[in-house]
Amino acid sequence: MKTQVCIIGGGPSGLLLGQLCHKAGIDAVVLERRTRDHVLGRIRAGVLEQGFLRLLDEAGVETRMDRLGYPHDGTLISFENFETRIDFRQHTGSSVMVYGQTEVTRDLYEAREKVGAPTLHEVADVEIVNAGLDEAGGCTVSVTHEGQRKEIRCDYVAGCDGFHGPSRQAIPADKRHEFEKLYPFGWLGILSETPPVHHELIYANSTRGFALCSMRNETLSRYYVQAPMADDPQDWSDAAFWAELKRRIPERFAETLVTGPSIEKSMAPLRSFVCEPMQYGRLFLVGDAAHIVPPTGAKGLNTAASDVHYLYEALKACYLDRDPAAMATYSETALRRVWKTQRFSWWMTKLLHRFPDTDDYELRIQRAEIEHLASIDSAQAMLATNYVGLPY
Ligand code: FAD
Ligand code: DHB
Repeated sequence: MKTQVCIIGGGPSGLLLGQLCHKAGIDAVVLERRTRDHVLGRIRAGVLEQGFLRLLDEAGVETRMDRLGYPHDGTLISFENFETRIDFRQHTGSSVMVYGQTEVTRDLYEAREKVGAPTLHEVADVEIVNAGLDEAGGCTVSVTHEGQRKEIRCDYVAGCDGFHGPSRQAIPADKRHEFEKLYPFGWLGILSETPPVHHELIYANSTRGFALCSMRNETLSRYYVQAPMADDPQDWSDAAFWAELKRRIPERFAETLVTGPSIEKSMAPLRSFVCEPMQYGRLFLVGDAAHIVPPTGAKGLNTAASDVHYLYEALKACYLDRDPAAMATYSETALRRVWKTQRFSWWMTKLLHRFPDTDDYELRIQRAEIEHLASIDSAQAMLATNYVGLPY
């Protein structure tokens, strides 16, 4: 098999890049380890930046966003009963869209199916044979599919296979520098068929730790509480979850919160991670394969999308303008924005969580910073500008 771009990973990064390539007449194939149902079963991000929406539009993806998406012009930040609203529109003239990653992925699968763009599911033992060695002549990806070993000859490989995928490992250890920070807690999340407690998201700090009130639509809510990573989600009864959430959000919301049975419950680790560089020879890392943020600023999926944008622009320059040198600057360009989203996610995480060494002094500092946010316009503008998404 021959193609121009071999995309490893059929999550949002790989599917979006594949669809953009297809639209531009660049030949691409997507290789995904799991079944489509498995990929669609993962409940993850919920907040999209405008840049992401523009990319979906450019890729000609018909979304169901006009029916299922919710533009949000602001968010609440609280500390116990103290609340402040960050007005995105006032500070940036822009907003974000609440629309689940599951829906985005479904839209992308449907768009690819409609145009006959190839996605090979349930592939195994993906191996990038010569990413760095064969700079002049392309490279080969070997893969087992439907019981047969196949070789895919390509010009470039896009490693869109998430944090645990093989692409990053294909860069020799002495050619990459990994920066990592693990946070000593996780987010226990539930999905419940109940109306959201508020029409905007609430990021809540409290002496008991962080909580987030989010949503998917008027009858489907997503809530998170900071919890020890060692906790088994199944050991958390729904009643225990609701009780803990109520203790962490402002009383006026705790009193009106509608509770019900959870339909999903899971624990997500919090990690900051960057791999430099994001390219090696003919291999280009995209999204979670190259970097991870703690979810506090809703930046994981959105930063994956900005990588897709930069790689797509380089591929267009290479194939449509016959300027292959454009590929050389991908990592440098993408990393500049990556580090800014790392900074923002790290800052939001520090502002809102209880760390093992958070003492009374640190709690007062967190509260003072939230009060500072409430009173200083430029502090609100910093948060709003980052939250709605830095320009590409
Ligand atoms: P992924 O979504 O990880 O997709 C990678 C794909 O590659 C997967 O489909 C995987 O099956 C496939 N793959 C892996 N190995 C191979 C292989 N060997 N061969 C072929 N295919 C392979 N972000 C937010 O902004 N907000 C959130 O609330 C949020 N919550 C999250 C909760 C959890 C539990 C997790 C794990 C992440 C969360 N994120 C969140 C992050 C966000 O979901 C990711 O940033 C986003 O999924 C990145 O997309 P991706 O396509 O780069 O990687
Ligand atoms: C959601 C997740 C986030 O990490 C976030 O910052 C906002 C919303 C969500 O799942 O809805």
